Amino acid sequence: MTILVTGGAGFIGANFVLDWLEHCDEPVINLDKLTYAGNLHNLDSLQGDVRYIFVQGDIGDRALVDKLLAAHQPRAIINFAAESHVDRSIHGPEDFIQTNVVGTFRLLEAARHYWQAQADASKNIFRFLHVSTDEVYGTLAHDAPAFTEDHKIEPNSPYSASKAASDHLVRAWHHTYGLPVLTTNCSNNYGPLHFPEKLIPLIIVNALAGKNLPVYGDGMQIRDWLYVRDHCSAIRRVLDTGRLGETYNIGGWNEKPNIEIVQTVCRLLDQLRPRTDGQGYETQITYVKDRPGHDRRYAIDARKIERELGWKPAETFDTGIRKTVQWYLDHPEWVAQVQSGAYRDWVAKQYEDKSGTA
Ligand code: NAD
Ligand code: DAU
Repeated sequence: MTILVTGGAGFIGANFVLDWLEHCDEPVINLDKLTYAGNLHNLDSLQGDVRYIFVQGDIGDRALVDKLLAAHQPRAIINFAAESHVDRSIHGPEDFIQTNVVGTFRLLEAARHYWQAQADASKNIFRFLHVSTDEVYGTLAHDAPAFTEDHKIEPNSPYSASKAASDHLVRAWHHTYGLPVLTTNCSNNYGPLHFPEKLIPLIIVNALAGKNLPVYGDGMQIRDWLYVRDHCSAIRRVLDTGRLGETYNIGGWNEKPNIEIVQTVCRLLDQLRPRTDGQGYETQITYVKDRPGHDRRYAIDARKIERELGWKPAETFDTGIRKTVQWYLDHPEWVAQVQSGAYRDWVAKQYEDKSGTA
């Protein structure tokens, strides 16, 4: 048997492909468009591995997806492919609608036609697993209970609105056509291979380069952090034993204000790679203008996946963040390679806008 992973050259998708092939020998087809966020070096360790096939292409390219499904007959599609960065969605929402909404729609249609044409045995085992986010639930008040799967869908950014739209399409394809779908809504991931436009890797690479560590607004926005390999193990679990048509929230019970995340990274770097001038990295922290529409707090109630499927994260935040910082220190060539001209253009555009104070 084979699985088709989309977006497998990005942060979570690449960790998933690596994690999958560490756990089993079932081949993986990786369909990825290779946008700025897709990086084939993330999968360098699989060169020559007969269990892995890479195909460059768009999930919205129906002819290509039809051809891949017919040729490889996968028993599951796991859809990671997306535009994923909230700040970019504010600067330019169009790509988010194209990939996250139209792309998911076309992928669902390809999956539906493929699945409907299968013989009963293959039809029964087929799964379409859609990887989504806690951001579809909107923002939480400080003392509100964490998001359950029944929470209202109230997305606030172009990114989260596009993901919410894709979740609705997936739900409807199950309800109307019976397509065997599963949806996961996960909190903020961190870990190796995280592109340094996102908070944790940006802080690590900026700190080491002697640059400012930009904290939006008052730095008291709360995110719920999960080590990326725990997200991968949760997806494997949902794929194996999740109930069809269900949504599973995935989280690490690790709510932390952004400023605490930044301070933790600084303190780890102080231990592992102290500055040569004897000062702490915290002196580089700079408060900058806030993100428009910035959600104040996300928190995932992960009891359903624990109760029904027996999944729990393996890492604590302390163990996961230490591993992560160490990974960046050990991979300066990866960091240099992703900080291409295009990356520098983005950083200039995003942070020039924010110069000055909160
Ligand atoms: P990422 O931006 O690092 O990677 C996205 C990947 O998708 C890239 O390799 C890119 O080339 C590919 N891609 C983009 N458009 C495509 C298209 N039209 N066709 C094929 N491939 C395309 O994203 P990530 O952080 O790895 O997130 C993966 C998924 O997980 C996304 O769906 C995201 O919404 C979801 N998610 C992310 C987080 C997080 O904290 N990063 C948390 C919860 C859910
Ligand atoms: O909650 C899950 C989501 O987490 C995923 O669906 C998204 O794909 C993923 O990008 C992430 O979204 P966030 O917006 O929470 O992640 P980001 O790393 O961009 O920001 C985390 C927090 O840190 C957020 O409150 C904004 C803040 N921030 C971010 C950057 C890049 C800063 O204060 N400074 C920064 O420079």
